[in-house]
Amino acid sequence: MCGIIGYIGHRDAWPIVTRGLKKMEYRGYDSAGIAIVNDVGFNLYKKAGKVSSLEQFTDGKDKSGKIAIGHTRWATHGEPSDCNSHPHSSNDKRLHIIHNGIIENYAVLKETLLTRGHQFDSDTDTEVLIHLIEEIQNMEQTDLLEAVRLALNEVIGAYAIVILDRGNPDQLIAARKGSPLVIGIGADEHFIASDVTPIVEYVKNVIYLNDNEIALIKTNQLSIKQRNNVVQTPLVHELELKLEELEKGGFDDFMLKEIFEQPRSLIDCMRGRIYPKEGKVELGGIKHYADKLTQIDRIIIVACGTSWHAGLVGEYLIEKFAQVSVEVEYASEFRYRHPIIRKDDLLIAISQSGETADTIAAIEIAKNKGATIFGICNVVGASIPRSTDAGVYTHAGPEIGVASTKAFTTQVAILTLIAFYIAQQKGILAPAELTVLLNELNSIPSKIQRVLAENEHIKDIAFEIKDAKSCLYLGRGSGFPVALEGALKLKEISYIHAEGYPAAEMKHGPIALIDEEMPVIFIATKNSSYEKVISNIREVKARKGKIIAIVTEGDIHVKEIADYYIEIPDTDEAFMPLIATVPLQLLAYHMATIRGCNVDQPRNLAKSVTVE
Ligand code: G6P
Repeated sequence: MCGIIGYIGHRDAWPIVTRGLKKMEYRGYDSAGIAIVNDVGFNLYKKAGKVSSLEQFTDGKDKSGKIAIGHTRWATHGEPSDCNSHPHSSNDKRLHIIHNGIIENYAVLKETLLTRGHQFDSDTDTEVLIHLIEEIQNMEQTDLLEAVRLALNEVIGAYAIVILDRGNPDQLIAARKGSPLVIGIGADEHFIASDVTPIVEYVKNVIYLNDNEIALIKTNQLSIKQRNNVVQTPLVHELELKLEELEKGGFDDFMLKEIFEQPRSLIDCMRGRIYPKEGKVELGGIKHYADKLTQIDRIIIVACGTSWHAGLVGEYLIEKFAQVSVEVEYASEFRYRHPIIRKDDLLIAISQSGETADTIAAIEIAKNKGATIFGICNVVGASIPRSTDAGVYTHAGPEIGVASTKAFTTQVAILTLIAFYIAQQKGILAPAELTVLLNELNSIPSKIQRVLAENEHIKDIAFEIKDAKSCLYLGRGSGFPVALEGALKLKEISYIHAEGYPAAEMKHGPIALIDEEMPVIFIATKNSSYEKVISNIREVKARKGKIIAIVTEGDIHVKEIADYYIEIPDTDEAFMPLIATVPLQLLAYHMATIRGCNVDQPRNLAKSVTVE
């Protein structure tokens, strides 16, 4: 949802900013722009399209300077075009801004500014903000920092901004509310970015700006204050991320790399948390709530997208093992209903990025009603883990591909551990029972490895159904959220329409869609509803649907009826989603790449949705 980067220091800023923008293209990639200052002047370059279009456009032009700001955009206000690209400039073209977020009251502010003679070059809310700052600075005759502070007090909405004043090129001003911003601290240099991906190669120490903070950044000076003028002492974090984790490591795409990383990310996610021999689960992040968890009788899970699907799997696991009632909610719906939230409820927010605006808003609502809030997040130090009472990181490593893969399986693994943890604390699961379950859970990474070895076979199936106009994914029990996730992966990256449905519900509608053109993907592993799923497969077969089945190794019955099948290793029913999701990720991946789609940056999508 837009990536922003700024640099001030002793190095050439252009390569740092362009490289950084490319690394953040997963946040948005419909247009890009950079403003850069050098000793003799100032240059502003903006172009619709990817960062590479901006690079072509600026080939041979003056790109020198040691201070610059850059932006890669995911359009919210105004179509992707050269003039709507950031940076946006003040009326007198002295101030320049990059922005991630939405200024909700921009229309009202713009009307006032128009009456005061301001002229606008774009349709964006961001341009209004920089004009407002300029107007306030001129009216109040203050320095820029104070003008920014006063302007932000008039703004409703979310923002991470960086401002460059071409008349005062030894400083940048940054501020955040609701959208992430991190400042990298080097020797006589500072980096500012939406996340650490573009700066990890230069610095070890970072400061995560908090909501309502404004920073004045010079080469060798950094001061932070709140919007109410209270000076802040910045908390410096040391980065643990390694640069290699942000590279493709020999794979064609980040998505494929991340699919193949799943055995490793699951091992990392479970390390130090499961003790099969002792029959014990330890979750350091929530241990202070161990007693409270024995009393909880209602859990609300809020999330968006793939994380919501993980929540649905979690519902099965927590209700089954911990015997606590669970509701799973789309954060965007939850926040605008009048949800009943009690003080003794537990809300679990699931978010890969930890920055999803709707999920953050849902947390605030539950917090105000006194509920306990846990987070399950991947990005360390993001807004959600910082705003929850406690939580568990997934430790999947950076996920760059827009379509979520390893984040999903690690989220499901954490939900499994939370279910076991509550069951253990309540005495529902004895150590001997946990030993059996944890031994099996421990074997899941190697079982996923065996599924990954089927990659070529899955590619062949993808080739057979690549021209489908629409696909149906069906499953029962926790196979249903797996079906939803499989369908989401396909539509996200291949642009083929796909629907996930509970297999039994098929008869209440989707069965009307089935003909010989329609691939139907069944989650038909051996479990308590196996026989019933076979009946559903026969119903599709009778209507000439093309059947692709995910089956358990050694299966006979489904193989007989299916047109194509993918075998996965047998496991406890509780862990099936962890394995069965993987072939569906690969199927979607291959269908998309065979059709020539860019899987890492699918059209219209962004990895981190920081606007509602
Ligand atoms: C976007 C991403 C999805 C992700 C969803 C929720 O739509 O493209 O991959 O599942 O946001 O994001 P979160 O970071 O909260 O898990």
